[in-house]
Amino acid sequence: MRNLIVLILVLCSFRVTISQGTQRLSLLLKCKQSAGFSIYGQGTTKMCLYLGQENKTYVEAQADCTSRNSRLAIFNTLEKFQIVEPMPNVWIGLDDIATEGTYRWADGSILDLQSELKKKIFYPGEPNAAFELEDCVCNNCFKEYPKLFDSPCGDTYRYLCEKVI
Ligand SMILES: *[C@@H]1O[C@H](CO)[C@@H](O)[C@H](O)[C@H]1NC(C)=O
Repeated sequence: MRNLIVLILVLCSFRVTISQGTQRLSLLLKCKQSAGFSIYGQGTTKMCLYLGQENKTYVEAQADCTSRNSRLAIFNTLEKFQIVEPMPNVWIGLDDIATEGTYRWADGSILDLQSELKKKIFYPGEPNAAFELEDCVCNNCFKEYPKLFDSPCGDTYRYLCEKVI
């Protein structure tokens, strides 16, 4: 009985590995076929990103990502964040436009403001939604500090689009 359980666990983890491998391969292939997009890696994390070099408002950046069959890039793990960390003045896919004070990633998921992740990826004390005007999140766009910061959505920065499977 115990052996059977072990066997099932081994088979399950094998399946997970295979499906992750297949997903990674599809992402690599899709990325290769998408003009302007490149694979960025950190540890075992791979992201297919396009760095828009023109300065655009958050909404303009969103629209450009959509026109490239992608969305603004999300960095919801520490490894992913380490990919954007060295890139100054870029919009990422995180804002509290829909509900003031609730920060949503571009895939619709909510960033827990009490989480350890939030403490590690944001400038200390941010996001603060100052004057209820700072609804959109950019990386290293304040005092050359390589962390996230919430800024007025009408400011113009470069931006990162992300292709997902
Ligand atoms: C974007 O704005 C920055 C200043 O924030 C400037 O240094 C850079 O040259 C601008 N890039 C373009 C392509 O206009």
